[in-house]
Amino acid sequence: MKIEAHKSLQKYNTFGIDVKAKHFVSVKSIAELKNVISLKKYPNHFILGGGSNILFTKDIDALVIHLNLKGISIEKETEDHLYIKAMAGENWHEFVLYCIKNNYGGIENLSLIPGNLGTTPIQNIGAYGVELKDVFYECEAFDLKTKTQKCFSKTDCEFGYRNSIFKNSAKDKYIITSVTLKLTKKNHRLNYSYGAITDQLKKENTDLNIKAISKAVINIRQSKIPNPKEIGNSGSFFKNPIINSRAFSQFQKQYPQAPFYKLSEEHYKVPAGWLIEQTGFKGKRFGDAGVHKNQALVLVNYGSATGLEILNLAKNIQEQVSKKFNITLEPEVNIL
Ligand code: EPU
Repeated sequence: MKIEAHKSLQKYNTFGIDVKAKHFVSVKSIAELKNVISLKKYPNHFILGGGSNILFTKDIDALVIHLNLKGISIEKETEDHLYIKAMAGENWHEFVLYCIKNNYGGIENLSLIPGNLGTTPIQNIGAYGVELKDVFYECEAFDLKTKTQKCFSKTDCEFGYRNSIFKNSAKDKYIITSVTLKLTKKNHRLNYSYGAITDQLKKENTDLNIKAISKAVINIRQSKIPNPKEIGNSGSFFKNPIINSRAFSQFQKQYPQAPFYKLSEEHYKVPAGWLIEQTGFKGKRFGDAGVHKNQALVLVNYGSATGLEILNLAKNIQEQVSKKFNITLEPEVNIL
């Protein structure tokens, strides 16, 4: 275990923002994690996973602990299901591919989401009709107060749309060290209700199975969302706003062509990407900060944008959307 000083975090966040950590260490086991947390010399910690849902706007004046815990194991099996545990530092998409190769179903719709296993429950990752909570069984986390491991069941996690207990009452109190999912071994419940998947599957004209769905999702994502290895980004920068039925009926009267999802009699979700596109930001570039040309919900770093430049662009977008539609956009990405 090597503690480094003034380490650039550019490689450790998918936006590719070049900020520095006062100190940095990569831990490979829970024992190392415990050890490093108790070092008196470094009382302030910052836990870093895959860095895929974070916008750094300043240097981190703490010991940045990079969670590099690896390992995948099958905990339990029944006739139809298996309980598969992955350590926090495993890359999510590689894990999805591993499951597909072994014919474990349930997460194929979540292909190509950047980041590591450990952060997936925090924001309850979701895409194309599936959310992590649909397959989540439990996760283990290190309790920073008691310095012991604690298990969180699905109910304990209080999952919601891009939300969980780890963004609320449990925030900054735990470090998720592993996640266990309940996947299917056969009779997979394929979810291809999302329009774009059906279209893509028709185009490919293949058998319907988890592999075909994963491939379709990968193709759709690649056509819309830039690869962070090529253009820095953090996926959707904002959440899709949820508005009440009164506000929605006014909105719909004015913009009858706007896409929407009805959540209940009372609540409607409006795609933030559409709202942003209507304000003219799609494809615009301001220095090295920009709005992606194929998906207005994705803010990008073309090379050397600073976190503050991206943040200013985000604020500008929020202002214009609020002015035009009277709808508030809330960031999905954690801003630091
Ligand atoms: N739209 C536009 N212009 C745009 C982008 C979108 O008009 O520039 C419209 C589309 O035409 C469509 C609607 O908005 O009618 C929804 O677009 P899309 O299917 O691309 O999905 P999204 O609502 O923009 C959400 C998630 C994504 C996830 C996709 C697919 C959020 C904040 N984002 O995006 O998640 O991949 O659905 O399920 O919920 C992420 O969280 O990082 C992420 C990429």
